[in-house]
Amino acid sequence: MSNTRIRPDIRDFEPYVAGRSIDEIKAAYQLTSVIKLASNENPLGTSPVVQDVICKNASLAFRYAQAGNPVLRKALAEHLGIADTCIVCGNGSDEIIDLLIRVMARPGVDNVVAFDPCFSMYKVQSKLCGVAFRQAPLNRDFSFSWDGLLQIMDERTRIVFVTNPDNPSGYAAPASEILDLARRIPEQATLVVDEAYIDFSDPLETYSMLRLFENASNIVLLRTFSKLFGLAGLRLGYGIMPPDLADYLMRTRPPFSVNILAEKAGIAAINDTPFIEATRTTVLKGKEQLVRGMEACGCKVYPSQANFLLVKPPVDPARVCDALLRKGIIVRPLGSYGLDDCFRVSVGNAEENERFLHALGEVVHGS
Ligand SMILES: Cc1ncc(COP(=O)(O)O)c(C=O)c1O
Repeated sequence: MSNTRIRPDIRDFEPYVAGRSIDEIKAAYQLTSVIKLASNENPLGTSPVVQDVICKNASLAFRYAQAGNPVLRKALAEHLGIADTCIVCGNGSDEIIDLLIRVMARPGVDNVVAFDPCFSMYKVQSKLCGVAFRQAPLNRDFSFSWDGLLQIMDERTRIVFVTNPDNPSGYAAPASEILDLARRIPEQATLVVDEAYIDFSDPLETYSMLRLFENASNIVLLRTFSKLFGLAGLRLGYGIMPPDLADYLMRTRPPFSVNILAEKAGIAAINDTPFIEATRTTVLKGKEQLVRGMEACGCKVYPSQANFLLVKPPVDPARVCDALLRKGIIVRPLGSYGLDDCFRVSVGNAEENERFLHALGEVVHGS
């Protein structure tokens, strides 16, 4: 088909670069055992309680979910202590990012701003919506330069994305600073705080905007079931926002984008306190294990409030990532984030972390 049928601004579209899959690496390198520490998934896998719920409801897969997922919204509202009218569920928080841009930013007129580097879906979705995407550099230590971000906003800025804790650095700003930013952004702009990794921050009350977001009318929070709740493959996320904005998203969102199994699994997952606690403990301990081990290999490891670490190795990172792949370990190269001298590693379980550290030692010391 001739590409003249495609929108000119889409012809050179650069897709999201996803972490490579276990099956892909097994096939490429003829390996039988591969571990994936590339996409910040849950180190404990899927909770057995949630697996049970998915199996018990498998026969419902032929049904549409109830449009708009009211039961899930209610369960989340109770869990979070907020009104269900503030919550919109989506097919991963990716869908909420897409909806927010489409509902608030006018193609060819408005702009969206974020830091550089940032989670790439903000750019991918803005571009797909025909909305200009502007970025302000992070400080050298990956902390947030609020003044730098404010400088690139203007009267056409509709959305400001801040990821807290940030991806790919793991840096987190206190919630009080973010509330301060919300009070300084232009009047027509909305501050979207992506809290995909917030449950790993410690102490949570310092970093989470949940108890502060009602102090300003221009704040949206994004949450996902892909990390703490171990449901990345089911695709479930949600936004927390003022009810009038939630109403527009509810009106425009595809009615069945959250499927019936994701809905049942989500409700079970938020009530599965032992799994939530075990995940948090595994990540906190695993992070210490990885930091110690990687520093012993001569790596610079950035402080992280998330379930992953940004690492500057003492030798070429591209060579490190490639050599690790050959040993059956997938980490995340960061060329697509413009960070050629670093890679990102997700915190795995103790055994995975040990295997990664052993392989990293061999790669760095050349054996
Ligand atoms: C900062 C950030 N936001 C959102 C997402 C997407 O989450 P979901 O799987 O809910 O679409 C990710 C996934 O890695 C992420 O890192």
